[in-house]
Amino acid sequence: MKILLLNGSMRGDRSSSIKVAHAFVRGITGTVPDAEVTEVLLRDKKIEHCLGCLSCWKNDRGKCIIHDDMDELRDLVMANDVIIESFPLYFFGQPSKMKAFVDRMISYVSEYRGVGGNEESGSFLHKMRYPELMQKKLVLVSSCGYEKTEGCYGPIKQQYDIICGEGNYTLITASQGGMLAEETLQGKVDKYLVKFTEAGAEFARTGRVSEETLSKLAVPMLGHNTFERLINLNWDDPNVGPYGRKGQAQ
Ligand SMILES: Cc1cc2nc3c(=O)[nH]c(=O)nc-3n(C[C@H](O)[C@H](O)[C@H](O)COP(=O)(O)O)c2cc1C
Repeated sequence: MKILLLNGSMRGDRSSSIKVAHAFVRGITGTVPDAEVTEVLLRDKKIEHCLGCLSCWKNDRGKCIIHDDMDELRDLVMANDVIIESFPLYFFGQPSKMKAFVDRMISYVSEYRGVGGNEESGSFLHKMRYPELMQKKLVLVSSCGYEKTEGCYGPIKQQYDIICGEGNYTLITASQGGMLAEETLQGKVDKYLVKFTEAGAEFARTGRVSEETLSKLAVPMLGHNTFERLINLNWDDPNVGPYGRKGQAQ
């Protein structure tokens, strides 16, 4: 199994979403020992915005007129079996770097010809330009800052249900993302992330993550009172940065 892990956070090593994605991937590699993982931080890549010219649909089908790091990233998508998009939730959507990546993948989607997807069969909104793309599994792994994920991922879910068809992708989410970088909480963080490793192992065994497992992931790491106290400390105590102790935050 070949896995491509893309992270759309600009926070590099301190990214909470990549911590969650690493935990999930550990579950896969622990179950499928010969799994190969390629990790890419999109912040290190040059990804221009889609120009909207649709030349990739009209003139040179499947080919984008912009040549930047998307050439390499599209090849990586083709070369891997599981594509993991890991990202922080920004205003209830994907951050712009990840969105730029997704938009630029339009060249791999067939042109729109007035026929939409089929909700009942769960087919994609647009046909994939290359049939191999239909065999790949897409996993979204995201962290958000709110206390609970409940209510936060409706827009992402709606978007991907329409694009991919319900059930054709896996959505893994974690709340209290800012707390995952707080070093004084590492014991709790490690324990919390074990659930994501178990979800990765289940994904490797069955190709999906059950509703039962997803409901376990939805249980927040910290109880309400602790979370509220710590998040307020983040904003009010000058010795604590927005993501952990001062001097350690980026
Ligand atoms: C511009 C911006 C927008 C954000 N919007 C949301 C949001 O809509 N809902 C939410 O729960 N958290 C929001 N957050 C918090 C991040 O999603 C959260 O801290 C996340 O865990 C950061 O992940 P990262 O460390 O991988 O970048 C936002 C943060 C930023 C900087």
